[in-house]
Amino acid sequence: MASVARPWWQRAVLYQVYVRSFADSDEDGVGDLRGIADRLDYLEWLGADAVWLSPVTVSPDKDWGYDVADYIGVQPAFGGLPALDELVAQAARRDIRVIVDIVPNHTSDRHPWFEESRVSRDSPRRDWYVWADPKPDGSPPNNWRGAFGGGRAWTLDERTGQYYLHNFLPEQPDLNWWNDDVRAAFDDILRFWLDRGIAGFRIDVAHGIVKDRELRDNPDPAISTYNANREDVHDVLRRWRRVVDEYAPERVLLGETWVMELDRLARFYGSGDDELHLAFNFPFTFSDLDAGRLRGIVEATEAALPERAWPVWMLSNHDIVRFPTRMAGGDERKARAALFLLMTLRGTPVLYYGDELGMPQADVPAEQQRDMDGRDGARTPLPWNGGWSDPWLPVAADVPPVAVQRDDDGSFLNFARSLIAQRRANPDLVDGAYESLPSPEGVWAFRRGERTTVAVNLSDEGVELDGLRLRPWEGVAQRR
Ligand code: GLC
Repeated sequence: MASVARPWWQRAVLYQVYVRSFADSDEDGVGDLRGIADRLDYLEWLGADAVWLSPVTVSPDKDWGYDVADYIGVQPAFGGLPALDELVAQAARRDIRVIVDIVPNHTSDRHPWFEESRVSRDSPRRDWYVWADPKPDGSPPNNWRGAFGGGRAWTLDERTGQYYLHNFLPEQPDLNWWNDDVRAAFDDILRFWLDRGIAGFRIDVAHGIVKDRELRDNPDPAISTYNANREDVHDVLRRWRRVVDEYAPERVLLGETWVMELDRLARFYGSGDDELHLAFNFPFTFSDLDAGRLRGIVEATEAALPERAWPVWMLSNHDIVRFPTRMAGGDERKARAALFLLMTLRGTPVLYYGDELGMPQADVPAEQQRDMDGRDGARTPLPWNGGWSDPWLPVAADVPPVAVQRDDDGSFLNFARSLIAQRRANPDLVDGAYESLPSPEGVWAFRRGERTTVAVNLSDEGVELDGLRLRPWEGVAQRR
C-alpha cells in the first residue's frame, strides 16, 4: 500500500548536537559550527535527517547558552552568524535540516532589554520582565522557588527597590509574556531565523513561559502551579504556530514540555495542528526499561494525543543522565534494546550526540566540572579519535571512539546505524499506526501498520513468541 505523504519532521530522525562538545574545528577546546559542517558526512552516513543545535546565540554562559544576551547574534566562539549560514547551506546540500534552540522564558541579565528594564521603575522596558514590590516586611513578593537548587525565584534589585522574577538563575531574568511587545519581539526573532532557512525551533521551557498574572503563592511551594504550566501558554504557542505556518517548506516547533501527566502533554498539540508539532515526552524518557511500564506510557500517549498529532521520543539530552547509564545501568544489551524501541515506535526519534555510540554518562572529576547544576557528565566531547586538544570538558574514555566503532561491524554505532536504515526501509515503521499485541511478562510486542510486528524482550530470559525466538534484551521487527 502506498504510504501517506508525511511531512519531513514525521519521517525524520533528529539528532541533537551539543555544540560545545560535538566537533572543534579551530582547536580551542570548544566545539563550533564549522566543526559540525566538517562532520556532515558522518551525520549523513549515520542517517540523521535534521540536527537540533543547542543554543548558538550570544551568551555569557552562566547556563551554557540558555542565558541569551542577543537572540539574533551567534556566539563568536562558535563562528558567528556566517558560520551558521554556512552550516545551514552545506547541510541542505545533503538534505539535512538545521533546527535551533530558542529560549523565550528568560534572557541573560546582560541582555540589553534587561539592562534597560532595571534602570528605573518607569523604563519603557520595565514591563518586559516580571517586577514586583517586596512584601511589607521586605521579603519576596510570593513563595515561588527557582530551579537549580530550589532557592527563591526572586532577586531584589537594590536600585529600584523591586524584586525581579527568575525561574532559573538570578542571571536569567524571566520575560513577561503578558506584555504584547515581548510577544511581537519574538515573532520577529522567529522570522529572522526562518528567513535564514532554519527548519524550526526547539523551544526551551515551552510549558513554563507564562506566569500567573496575579503572582499568587503556589499552594504547595514544591509544585510550580503558578510560576509555570499556565493554560495561557497555549495562546503563545498558537501564535508561534501561525508564524511558522507562513513558511514553506514546512518548519517545525519542538517543545521542551517538561510535564509528567500525559493528558497535559497532549494539550501542547492543540487540536492536532495548531500548536506544537512535537512535544517531548518526559514520562517515556524517565521510565525504567520495563516492558509493562513503557508499554503503559506509550499506550497512554497514543490514547491522549489528538488525532493528527505525532509523538516524539528521546532517551537522553543535555540535562539528564545519558540513557546507557540511567536506563541500562551500563549493560550494553539493555542500551541496545532501548535504542531499538526508540527506532521502532510510532513517532519521531531524537538521538542525543553520543547515543549512537552507546556513550555512558561520564564521570567528570569535581575539579573539572563546569556546570552549576552538575550536568557535565552528559555533555563531554564526542570521542572521534582523539580529535580534541585541551577540551573544555574531559573526553570520557569509557566508550570506543567513532573511528574504531565505524570499522567494527558489531559495534554499537553500526547497530544504531542499521536500526535507522531498517526504519527508513520499512514504511510501516515510519508511517504505520501503533497497536499493542499480547505478550508475556517482560516482553513488549506491538504491530506497526499493516504488516510489521515488533517485539522486544526486556528480560534476562530467552523467550519464544509466535515462533519468534528472542534472546534476552533482543528486539526484532518483522515485515510480513
Ligand atoms: C532547559 C534547558 C536547560 C536549561 C534550562 C534553563 O531546561 O534544557 O539546559 O538549564 O532550560 O534555561
